[in-house]
Amino acid sequence: MNLKEKDRRHIIHPWSDLGSDAESMIIESGRGIHVFDNEGNRYIDAISGMWCVNLGYGDEEMAKAVSDQCVKLAYYTPFGAMTNEPSTRLAYELGKLTPGDLNCFQFTTGGSTAVESAIRFVHYYFNCLGKHEKKHIVYRENAYHGSTYLTASLNGKRCDRSYFNYMDDIVHSISDPNPYKKPDGMTLEAYCDLKVSELREKILEIGPDRVACFIAEPVMGSGGVVVPPPGYHKKTLEVCREFDVLYISDEVVTAFGRLGHYFASEDVFGIVPDIITAAKGITSGYQPLGAAIISDRLVDRISGASASENSYYTNGFTYSGHPVTCAAALKYLEIMKRENLNEHVREVGAYFMERLQTLKEFPIVGDVRGVCLMACVECVVSDDEAENIAVAQRVDAFCQDKGLIVRPYENLCILSPPLIIDRDGVDRIVDIIRDGIVSTMDEIGR
Ligand SMILES: Cc1ncc(COP(=O)(O)O)c(C=O)c1O
Repeated sequence: MNLKEKDRRHIIHPWSDLGSDAESMIIESGRGIHVFDNEGNRYIDAISGMWCVNLGYGDEEMAKAVSDQCVKLAYYTPFGAMTNEPSTRLAYELGKLTPGDLNCFQFTTGGSTAVESAIRFVHYYFNCLGKHEKKHIVYRENAYHGSTYLTASLNGKRCDRSYFNYMDDIVHSISDPNPYKKPDGMTLEAYCDLKVSELREKILEIGPDRVACFIAEPVMGSGGVVVPPPGYHKKTLEVCREFDVLYISDEVVTAFGRLGHYFASEDVFGIVPDIITAAKGITSGYQPLGAAIISDRLVDRISGASASENSYYTNGFTYSGHPVTCAAALKYLEIMKRENLNEHVREVGAYFMERLQTLKEFPIVGDVRGVCLMACVECVVSDDEAENIAVAQRVDAFCQDKGLIVRPYENLCILSPPLIIDRDGVDRIVDIIRDGIVSTMDEIGR
């Protein structure tokens, strides 16, 4: 069997079509913003693997940090009163960068386990306070929060719902605040207020004493890079505060530089949530690590002298605070600071958005949106969704033929290139997408 046959025979891929016998593309190596497949083709990776390889590929400093830590201490249990040096140092360093009093870290193995742990913390917190009814979670349509049982139940993308089971007794959705879907004639401010009022109504409908938390990505990622109208996050946080509902900001994609800041919640959207979840870029994708970052205020209320009788925090993983993953994160933070990566992202990100906006001249492009290095081109040719999806898939296929990997999702081309990209790299991405759109228009006779 060759590699592709072995893959097809033995691997169940995440989010894959089990009815398809399409061959996988085997990515063999990477350098900078490029990856190479095992047939020798080179591609610009305009999705950073999966929103995560912020420093690009082949960074030898990252490799050395990982390798040195493997030799020094590859692993030790984090359970109970045990820890290791890199995880302790990482928590301290991250605490200097997080907004407000978000200084307590539960390290996890990735984004889903960070979100799952955040919600388990919220339930534990309210139980300790005797508010046993506060269990319900409000999320948004088109959101993506992960792939564990509970987090998958908070995914608001229609196509994510399949033959699996989902929790439906404690999760409730409201619509996403996508300005592109704003009714004609409505101001952006009125649209924002409408979306915020949905949260208020949902909390009142469930009963404020039963609602534990609201979860939102600052900019919705896989759901189509939805940038909410100005003030949306501030106003939803105010609603949460009014009803003692905790606000979880899911920054699995947006933290660690993608929007030109360590965290987007406060620096981009002006809010200090109760909990932030992070993963992906925290190690630039060089190691799997996630974190639920929790406010001191919450932790203080249920620990030390305030801890409930016989309370025991039975949540965590064998690999929580794994020393090698934490060493990778520490190195990434060091490189981010030394290279002024956030500043670079703000500068090159503005150029990226400016160049992408030029694609709006094509009749099959309905919308171009995003912030910094998180963007999306939405293709629209008719009212028929299937036709729109087919068109976007053609654009993606043309891009791939021309050496560019974008992330197709329904009728969207999602883009999140490595943060080290320069203007020349941006030009190449936009030129290839432009060619892909022109070829698609030729093919469909538009
Ligand atoms: C916002 C958000 N939250 C959570 C997750 C889940 O992260 P992971 O795939 O690392 O479990 C993702 C993954 O894409 C995400 O985008």
